[in-house]
Amino acid sequence: MRVMLAPMEGVVDHRMRGILTAIGGYHSCVSEFIRVTDQPLPKKVFHRIAPELNDGGSTLSGTPVVIQLLGGHPETMAINARKAADLGAPAIDINFGCPSRLVNRKAGGAVLLKDPTRLYAIVKAVRLAVAAHIPVTAKLRLGYENTDLAVDNALAVQEAGADSITVHARTRLDGYSAPARWEWLARINENTAIPVVANGDINSVEDYLRCRQISGCDDIMIGRGAITKPDLAKQIRCHQQGVDYEPMGWDDIRPLLLQMGTSMEDDVKDRHIGMRIKQWLVYLKRDYMEAQHCFSRIRRITGFSAMKTIL
Ligand SMILES: Cc1cc2nc3c(=O)[nH]c(=O)nc-3n(C[C@H](O)[C@H](O)[C@H](O)COP(=O)(O)O)c2cc1C
Repeated sequence: MRVMLAPMEGVVDHRMRGILTAIGGYHSCVSEFIRVTDQPLPKKVFHRIAPELNDGGSTLSGTPVVIQLLGGHPETMAINARKAADLGAPAIDINFGCPSRLVNRKAGGAVLLKDPTRLYAIVKAVRLAVAAHIPVTAKLRLGYENTDLAVDNALAVQEAGADSITVHARTRLDGYSAPARWEWLARINENTAIPVVANGDINSVEDYLRCRQISGCDDIMIGRGAITKPDLAKQIRCHQQGVDYEPMGWDDIRPLLLQMGTSMEDDVKDRHIGMRIKQWLVYLKRDYMEAQHCFSRIRRITGFSAMKTIL
């Protein structure tokens, strides 16, 4: 019963991973995607997306950070996967879910879900390129426009040697707002032998329990719910273990915003830090009334330095 932190480009960077995994409950997290084109990437690209590679591939609280690659060419994916492994990646994940038009036009992400043989070729090449003790996983959606190939795609990934599959229970066409179709996870789970990690719309302990019941999946991955409720993984873990736990209140969350901003001060522009704080508050507003209040007060302020006293 593993709880994983989802990759979220522009939202879950190394700082957010550090903060959330320090609260606890996560078995592992996945980096934002690293875009692979037709070249071996320089080391600095891996380190920019996952500075945790300098710390043994884990966040400071010891949670492994899986490196996610996105691309459509088996050979270059394999070369870059090996490079990530050589740099200390504890596992490699392959992104077959990105809906971006730009990425899809370059034959990466969700567009690959139209052709299980391509998924197979990419996963196989990556599997052969990295040492057997390093897990290779794949993150899929249910399909591109429909669910017709959902099971075939999962089987292709399994046959290519993946250790587990995470399935975001939406198609590309569903985007991010259509309700996740957990019943499809059950179909995939029934037809595959490797672990299927359920993802999509798990925003509370109750959602976790319902998703588990419908999908039959033991493992879950949390995306937006992890930002909205920073201790969601801990709430779920404590529930699993039958341990009493009082969810974090606003007084516990507020210092995290300050921690995030302060940790960026040395190398990020004040204005950009301000944007990240506002971005997080927009997520937090869904669960904390106080975040709404706080957001209204800092709304017109651009820089973090001027927000500090209000936060
Ligand atoms: C802003 C944003 C960025 C994302 N970036 C990535 C990414 O880099 N790689 C990936 O595999 N999925 C990415 N996703 C998809 C999430 O990992 C997850 O599959 C999706 O949000 C569904 O889970 P949720 O309903 O728990 O949020 C992103 C989602 C969002 C909202």
